[in-house]
This record gives sequence, C-alpha cells and structure tokens, in this order.
Amino acid sequence: MSEIGSTVLNLRMCLRIKVRQPEMKQTVMWKVDAQQPDIEKIRVAASIIREGGLVAFPTETVYGLGADALNSKAVLDLFKAKKRPMDNPPIVHVENINDVTNLAKQIPAKAEKLMKEFWPGPLTLVFKRSKNVPDVTVAGLDTIAVRMPQNAVALALIKESMCPLAAPSANLAGKPSPTTANHVLKDLNGRIDAILDGGQTRIGVESTVLDLSVDPPMVLRPGGTVIEALRKVLGDVKLHPFVVAEEELAIEKTRSPGMKHRHYAPRAQVVLVEGALPPVMATIKSLISDYWLKGKRVGVLATAETSWAYEADVVKSLGSRRKVQTIAVNLFKLLREFDEANVDVIIAENVPTEGLGLAIMNRLRKASGYNIIKAG
Ligand code: TXA
Ligand code: MG
Repeated sequence: MSEIGSTVLNLRMCLRIKVRQPEMKQTVMWKVDAQQPDIEKIRVAASIIREGGLVAFPTETVYGLGADALNSKAVLDLFKAKKRPMDNPPIVHVENINDVTNLAKQIPAKAEKLMKEFWPGPLTLVFKRSKNVPDVTVAGLDTIAVRMPQNAVALALIKESMCPLAAPSANLAGKPSPTTANHVLKDLNGRIDAILDGGQTRIGVESTVLDLSVDPPMVLRPGGTVIEALRKVLGDVKLHPFVVAEEELAIEKTRSPGMKHRHYAPRAQVVLVEGALPPVMATIKSLISDYWLKGKRVGVLATAETSWAYEADVVKSLGSRRKVQTIAVNLFKLLREFDEANVDVIIAENVPTEGLGLAIMNRLRKASGYNIIKAG
C-alpha cells in the first residue's frame, strides 16, 4: 500500500476509534434508605435525569438504568451505555396508573384490571403506543412496555423526575441482571452518571412481560408475577413458545425483540442439566470428571439439598429447593460470583417450572445458550 494510502487508513482508524469511544463519566454512588429514601438525594438524582443523564436505581426485581423516556437523546445514551442492541426497547416505568394514558394509545379493560390488582409490582404490560413517545424509546415498534415498580426509591425517583423513566436492567447487554448496586458499578462504572444504592433487590428476577395487544393475552417473558396469578384474574393466558423453549427458536418466531438476543450470560460457559433429581446429580458428577480430564476449572450451581454431594472446583448453593423465592434472589448474584472465581464452565441443576420456577428456568436456559443436557 502507498504511504498516502496507509496514512489515510490510519487516519480513518483514528477517527473511527474516536467516534466509537464513549465519553467517560464520573459515576457517583449514593446509599439511600430502601424504605424511606432521603428526598435530598432523590432530588439530585432526579435533576440528573431531567438534564438528560443516566441514573441506576433499585426496583423490587433488579436494578434499572433510568433515563427520561421522552428525551430521545437521553434514551440513545442509555442504549450506548449498556451496549444494548437498538432494536430491543426498554421498559418504561411510571409511578402512577394515570401516567399510562400519555404513553398508551388505548387501555384495554383487561389492563385496567391487571393494573389495579398487580401494580405497583413486577408486571410489565405491552400496550399500543401513543405518538407522544419518541421512536427510539420503543425501538420503532407500534407498542410500548410499561410497569409501575414496587420500590420506594424507584417511585420517588420517577415522581421527582416528573417524567416516565425508560429503564432496562442496569447491566452491560448480555450479562446477568444486577441485584445489588455493586453489580451495577462493576458493569457500568464510568459509563453512567449515578447509582442509587438501596441494597439487594427483593425478587431477584425481572418482571413478567405480558402482551395485551393479542387475545388471549400472552406472556412474552416469565418473571416476578407468576402465570398462575395472572390466570386467576384473566382466565386464559398463553405462554409464548419462546418462554418454555428448550432450544433456540428461529428469530421470526419471536414476538418480544429481547427474545432473540443473548442474555444473562456470565463469561463462563453454562451447561444446564434437566430431569429428575437423582439422574441430574449423577449426570453432573460425570460431567465434572469429563471437564476435569479436559483441564477445565469447573463450577456447580446446586441447591441446599444437593450441594454436599458434588466435588468440583467451586460449588455454590442457590438455597433450598423448597424456597423458590430464595433461588430467584440468588440466581444472578451467583452467576456473577462464578466469574469472579474464574471457572471455565458452570454446570447447573434444573428446578421445577411451577410459580417463579418458570422464570428461573427461562433465565438459566438462556444463560446456557440452550446448552441443555437431558438426564435420565
Ligand atoms: O423487572 C424488570 O422488568 C426490570 C426492572 C429494571 O424494571 N427491567 C428489565 O428491562 O428487565 P429490560 O430492558 O432488561 O427488559 C425489557 C424486556 C425485554 O425483553 C424487551 O424486549 C421487552 O421487555 N420489551 C420492551 N418493549 C417491548 C414491546 N413493546 N413489546 C414486547 N416486548 C418489549
Ligand atoms: Mg435486561
């Protein structure tokens, strides 16, 4: 290549690097009382949101990264900070049922019923969108996902910001969702303005996403509001095939944009073993030997009833199989801890898919990239 040609190329590369490099920010973290948050700190955080900045905050499910949902530039910055694909819209958070009228084109009767029953709480409803919402906030879709979180810090922040908050989970795209402020700091330090530290989140897996633009309504993502509870109120509720998929489905079959992206994945490879408990345990033991023979560092994601039985490099217990809430609270935290322990592979047990178990298994299957072994 000529000297001029290579200079032009170098210049182009410099420019490209410059353009791609996100502006580093000084991320500040404030501790707040989870029940009665200090209003002064909330007001400072809200003023950052109003100026178009990014603030992470606790919800009852996982930490969210908030931006003014009606400010396109702020929402664009939100995608950049998370390295989130632009075709995967965030959930918009409100602090009052009346705020939905400005975001949704119409509110079906079923939605009214659900909002009364489950809000504030871990239920996200997908509505036809109103034109008041910028395109970037809904990734160009004609629908919008909205929820009212059940967390005093989150509600106070939305109220003081005086705008709905677009808030995806506050992790780098593809990583396990953050259940503590430190998880947020680890992923997003230097990329966002502030973090409100309100302690560990209560539920540990994200909200249930329910599509009301179809009849019967369809769960697009299982989460903190269990399908059994939705069926009690609505009668018929369908599960999107992707929710229960045990293998990767073709993209055109997905309905929620987030379905097709890689999710919840730690750095280590995850292998999920499914079946009745005795054959699952036997299969995990033999997998440990196989990986050791290959020179791999092996972690096992077990439960209180089973963790004693495994000999591996790192064995962690999610908690008792009889307390699915505890398993949900610990899931993302333990996936992150395995990365800190530098394992190459994480072998995980299944849990029954009733209640919150459906959300837990959905996250584990996705974290494994559908690397699932049937035992027995
Ligand atoms: O619990 C939660 O929902 C947490 C906390 C922070 O509220 N938020 C959360 O946001 O999990 P995120 O962005 O990580 O996940 C949002 C999910 C994605 O799967 C996305 O594809 C889906 O909601 N979603 C957003 N807008 C949608 C729409 N219009 N139609 C269907 N799915 C939508
Ligand atoms: Mg997420």
